[in-house]
This record gives sequence, structure tokens and C-alpha cells, in this order.
Amino acid sequence: MSQGFSAHTSGERLIIHDLASTRVQASFAEDVRAGLLSTPRKLFPKYFYDELGSQLFEAICLLPEYYLTRAENEIIERYAQEMAAEVPGHKRLLEMGSGSASKTRRIIEAILEEQDELLYIPVDISATALETSARVLLQAYPRLSINAFAGDYYSGLKALGSSHAQNGERTLALFLGSNIGNFDREGARTFLHALRSVLTDGDELLLGADLKKEREVLEAAYDDSLGVTAAFNLNLLSRINRELDADFDLRAFRHYARYDEEAGRIEMHLESLRSQVVRVARLDLELQFEDGERIHTENSYKYNMADLARLASETGFTLARTWYDSMKRFSSNLFVATS
Ligand code: AVI
Repeated sequence: MSQGFSAHTSGERLIIHDLASTRVQASFAEDVRAGLLSTPRKLFPKYFYDELGSQLFEAICLLPEYYLTRAENEIIERYAQEMAAEVPGHKRLLEMGSGSASKTRRIIEAILEEQDELLYIPVDISATALETSARVLLQAYPRLSINAFAGDYYSGLKALGSSHAQNGERTLALFLGSNIGNFDREGARTFLHALRSVLTDGDELLLGADLKKEREVLEAAYDDSLGVTAAFNLNLLSRINRELDADFDLRAFRHYARYDEEAGRIEMHLESLRSQVVRVARLDLELQFEDGERIHTENSYKYNMADLARLASETGFTLARTWYDSMKRFSSNLFVATS
């Protein structure tokens, strides 16, 4: 059930609905058990983002090889006004997976140049990230109010389903940072369908998607020379050690990232460097790993314009406009909700 609370220091301008925290802990244990016992073994990428993992991801975004964040920032810095102007009338702003909301600032500013006040509705798995970013935004923008949902995408959308836009207000939804890439093709369709169901005809979605490109560029972005992405990946094992009392030896696994051109995706794995037994005390598990055996931890799908146009039309949108960075590595796509 949604628990709403107002943060007093910000007066009436901030409400955070905490949707999930105890359930998240229980499903972590269940998902780790099912994933480590499946063949091939796998773990869900949403579990990268504990406190350390979130910091490591912020560090990834600063790496020279990880061009995605810089490219999307460049696009938003340059075209925020055009983006806001493409959505006519009075708007509210919904963001799925808002994180630190750093890219959102330019869009908020652009909308506030056109209208007196703005309701921002961020949805994020991390209540801490939501609260921190909300306070910064409220401080910076006195005409902004925030109605935030701390939970996964689907619980956020479910809770949002009942909060309709008022007085013919338009919704501009944001799904930035290539987060769509962490869904497989079917998962991306299911998610966009669910997002479409909280929008009305004419509402718009700004979707950040990384583009298909040369293998070398993609593989370097996911296997950087400083080893930050390796640490981000290995931190999943460290999290299992901490939270489920396991004894993964982090030196006995290595980070592995490859581009599968046919599937159009980067795959990340953790590879066992020897034959070994790992115990997960809290799950009462003893696991035998072979030398070279891998745990699949993430897919990062890449798109071309045909993929994006198809994705839009299959999920109740049309692809109205695309903006690119100067090197044409990344795309920001305006999807219009159609009937
Ligand atoms: C969050 N997501 C879009 C990142 C990506 O590029 O798929 C996560 C990431 N994994 C490794 N590096 C970054």
C-alpha cells in the first residue's frame, strides 16, 4: 500500500509515496535464489543499485569511455526548449527512473519558461535518491512541486494510474539514460504499454535510446580501462555476501562484457576464474561453479531508427521527432501517444 508523507521542511510542495521497501528485501533473496539456481545462472540488473552500486554508476557516467550520459546531456542542454515547446499547453512532468534527476533540470527550466508552475512526478526505486534530488530541485525552483513515488517502475505506474492530470493538462513523460536498453525487446514493449496506459492521447514521452554502432566503441563503454564497470558488476556479488551472508571470493570472478551484434545488445556477465564452491548461508545454498562458468547480470540493448519507430507503433505511440548528439551516438526520441 502507498504510504504518503510530506517532508515538512519543504512545506506542501513535496509528497513522497513509499511503495515498496520491505517487499524489495524479500524479493532480492527470492530472485537471487532462483537466478543462481537457473541454467545458465543469472541475476537481475535492478539489484546493482544498492548504495555503493548507485555511486559506482554515477562514476561510470563520468568515464571517458561511457559516452552515453555525456551525449544525452549534450542533446538536452542544446534542445530542451525545443523539446518542451513540442508538447503544447500546460504540462506536468513525469519521470520514470529519475535517479539524481540531473538531466531533468534543463527540461524543468524550459517548461517553467512557458508556464507559471509545474508538477514534477518522479518514480525511482531509491527513496534516498528521490528525497535528495527533490530537495535540491525544490530549493532551485520555487514554482515547482513534487509528487514522488519510491518503488519499481510497475508499482509506480500502478500507483500513478489513479492520479489523473487536471484540467486538460498534458503529461510529458521522461525515460532517459538508455534505461529502455536494460529491457529485452519484449520487456520494452510491455513497459511502454504500461506507461502508455497512464497517458492520454496527445501526451508525449521523451525516450533516450543508445544507438547501434561499432563493437569497439560499445565494448569499451562497458569494459572501461579504470575498471569501474568491473567493480559495478562485481559489487552484485559483494551485495549478496553482505545481505545474504554468502562467501563469494570477488578475486575468483571477473567482469565480462561483449557486444552480440545479431541481438543488438551488450551482455555483461561475471565469470568464475576457477572451479569453486560458494555458500549462501541465508538461502541455505551451496553452489558449485565450473572454471569459466558465467552469471549473466545485464543486457543493454542498442537501437536504430527502424527499431525505435517500430517500438513506438507497437506500443500506442508515434515517433514524432528525434534529436542526436554531435557524434550521432545517442538519440532522444519524442513519442506521441496516439489512440
Ligand atoms: C542504467 N543503464 C542504462 C546502464 C546501461 O548502459 O545499460 C547501466 C550500465 N551497465 C554498465 N554500465 C552502465
